[in-house]
Amino acid sequence: MRGDVAILVPAAGLGVRMGPGAPKALRLLAGEPLLLHAVRNVAVAPSVGLIVVAAPPADVAPVRAMLAEQPVPIAVVAGGPTRQASVACALDAVPREYDLVLVHDAARALAPPALIESVAAKLRAGSSAVIPALPVVDTIKQVGDGAEVIATIDRSALRAVQTPQGFRRSTLAAAHAIAVDNHTDDAGLAERAGVRVDTVPGDELAFKITRPFDLAVAEALIASGATSVRVR
Ligand code: CTP
Ligand code: MG
Repeated sequence: MRGDVAILVPAAGLGVRMGPGAPKALRLLAGEPLLLHAVRNVAVAPSVGLIVVAAPPADVAPVRAMLAEQPVPIAVVAGGPTRQASVACALDAVPREYDLVLVHDAARALAPPALIESVAAKLRAGSSAVIPALPVVDTIKQVGDGAEVIATIDRSALRAVQTPQGFRRSTLAAAHAIAVDNHTDDAGLAERAGVRVDTVPGDELAFKITRPFDLAVAEALIASGATSVRVR
């Protein structure tokens, strides 16, 4: 099925961990803004009918201009002071006809279109909430206040989760409506609301570009051709 998904792209963060500079979504990756890479990868996914970007409030007009020539309709709204607030602002701009809503960090700019399709397919198969997840590769230790090891955690049941995270619209709206504390992911809100959250296999390319190291990795991946986007 084509075009039945609205995807929210929170992009209003400052990028504090990236160091001084412009808001992270507007910083350059291989010569183009991070957000442009992210939106391009989203726009070629056949399921996507609408993209809603939550931009840094001071940059709504330039972001709109930057994203003018994409193959799907794009709305740009002002984001809020937290990721959760930015997602809520974007969700408000989604027309009622969209029953499937994905939330996807601009900072996961290299996430491949196939990952969007995989999340959307699981929703269509009946899930209320779906997140991409990868096994944890490092050994995980619990440490105490003095940085001393307290325990080694069995990692076999642990997963590192990514975006896009997909929801029936009503599930996401209800989770945000009852949110009290600030969550870093939307599935956390849904869990709190008692919703069953399913997983699909994640993709290493959907890693979050957080620190200068990640930007360097992203540049290298682009240069190697590992990220080439298929035409819609
Ligand atoms: N985000 C947002 N609105 C905020 C904060 C974050 O839309 N008020 C978005 C970011 O733009 C990013 C995604 O949420 O695409 C994930 O956040 P993160 O990687 O933490 O980005 P930043 O908040 O920009 O980075 P930092 O925490 O280092 O400042
Ligand atoms: Mg942040």
